[in-house]
Formats: sequence, structure tokens, C-alpha cells
Amino acid sequence: MADRAVLVTGASRGIGAAIARAFAATGDRVAVHHGRSTAAAQDVLASLDGDGHLLVQADLADPVAILDMVDAVAAEFGRIDVLVNNAGVFIPHPITDTSYEQWQSAWAETLGVNLVGAANATWCAVRHMPEGGRIVNISSRGAFRGEPGQPAYGASKAGLIAFAQSMARALGPRGIAVTTVAPGWVATDMAAARLEGPEGDIRRAESPLGRVATPEEVAAAVLYLASPEAELASGTVLDLNGASLLRM
Ligand SMILES: NC(=O)c1ccc[n+]([C@@H]2O[C@H](COP(=O)([O-])OP(=O)(O)OC[C@H]3O[C@@H](n4cnc5c(N)ncnc54)[C@H](OP(=O)(O)O)[C@@H]3O)[C@@H](O)[C@H]2O)c1
Repeated sequence: MADRAVLVTGASRGIGAAIARAFAATGDRVAVHHGRSTAAAQDVLASLDGDGHLLVQADLADPVAILDMVDAVAAEFGRIDVLVNNAGVFIPHPITDTSYEQWQSAWAETLGVNLVGAANATWCAVRHMPEGGRIVNISSRGAFRGEPGQPAYGASKAGLIAFAQSMARALGPRGIAVTTVAPGWVATDMAAARLEGPEGDIRRAESPLGRVATPEEVAAAVLYLASPEAELASGTVLDLNGASLLRM
């Protein structure tokens, strides 16, 4: 049984909820972070195996709220062994069909939550992270193949990978490994509308396996990257896109 103190951002649903459940199932204590979906986050908390888990809230666009939230987790758990930067937003803003005001708003919110929010959560958590700590970031295939309808999303996810690689080098001397998962489509609320009907069939066919990932498959990858055995994976990006996009 592991007994790590784990903070998962955006754990009120989808991939984050699956990650929280996976850590709890191994015996870890999990801080279930959420933004607006308090009732859903409470349901996730109640579903976790074991005890000693924690519900925390912060708008990841708010640096002060992040600091308070992370400090509250550290105060309760005594330390933070694992940070999973999972929370994210996916806001349509195609360049030819978006006003300049909407464009500004989409870029500010997307980078603010997906990239700067993760960077701030990392700064706050590292102060409480002992040797052997792990940081796992949830990026996306969109970092590599372009996101024509959500360009800020693609940029935020590419930025998150570059940030993780910088942190892998910066925190290695402290025995902390930093890694990234880059899923293709995953069956969650974020992707639900895009996975319905004929458009959904086209998206499933992007993979020669003919399907998209489940949140539990992403969680299993995160669990591995957070394990003691994965220390030498620090700096890596693990693709989970069913061979829909291959890169060297
Ligand atoms: N689904 C996919 O196809 C897919 C593919 C590749 C990568 N990803 C990435 O995987 C991660 C999880 O995605 P998902 O599909 O599980 O998304 P989701 O179902 O939409 O859940 C998003 C989570 O992020 C939280 N969040 C969003 N904005 C926030 C903010 N300003 N402050 C605090 N929390 C905030 C939400 O919390 P509240 O609801 O409580 O506000 C929620 O828990 C994201 O980073 C996403 O980009 C997803």
C-alpha cells in the first residue's frame, strides 16, 4: 500500500476524477480539487477508497486562491508527494469566426488556467514536496497536431510540455521527477459533444484501434508516472492517442 499525499486539480469529473480514484485505490490520500462543480466534487470524494481524503476549491485563474488551496492541502497532509496538473478548459475560438474581444477572452482564460494555473500550482506545491516527489501534467495530442478551432488550447498544451521539461531539469537535483501525458480524445464531458453522431465516428476512426481513451486509461498512465519506478522517465511525454498521431 502506498501512503502518499496527492493533489489532483480538476478532480470533480472526467479524467481528474478517475485519477483521484486510482490513487485512492492504491492507499494514497487524495486532495480532490475543483473549481465550480462542488456537488460533483463531493460525489467524487465520497466515492474514493480508503479515508483521510480532502475536498479543496480554487479558481485556477486566481494565483492567490491557488496558493491558499495548496497551502491548505499541505497543512492537512503534512506534505505533497504528488501533484497532478489536470484541470483544463477547451474553448472554441476559430480565428475566422471570432470577434477580437472573444479572441482576447479565449486566449486569456485558456492560457490562464491550462498553463499559468498549472505553473502556479507547481510553484506552490514544490515548497511542500519532499525528495521522491512527482509532478504529472495532463497535456494533449493537440500540442503536436494543431487545434484549428481552439488555437489557444493547442498553444497552452504545447507550453505545458515545455514547462514540464524545464521543471524536470530544475527539480531533478531535488529528486523530483516531472512528466507529461498527452492523450488524444478521451470520453469525458469536455469531449462529449464532439464524440456524438457521425462526427464522433470520424474522431474514433482517427485511431486504427477505432476508439477513444477512457479516463481510467489516462489515470493508469498517471499512476505509473507518479510511481517510484518512473523516476528516469522524468522529462518524458507519454502519448495516449491510439496511434492516431505518431511522432519520433
Ligand atoms: N477529454 C479529452 O478528450 C482530452 C484530451 C486530451 C487532454 N485532455 C485534458 O485532460 C484534462 C482533463 O480533461 P477532462 O476531459 O476530464 O475535462 P472536463 O471533464 O471538462 O473537466 C475539467 C476539470 O477542470 C476543472 N477546471 C476547469 N477550469 C477550472 C478553473 N478555472 N479552476 C479550477 N478548476 C477548473 C473543472 O472543475 P469544475 O467543473 O469544478 O470547475 C473540471 O474538474 C484537461 O487538461 C484536458 O485539456 C482532455
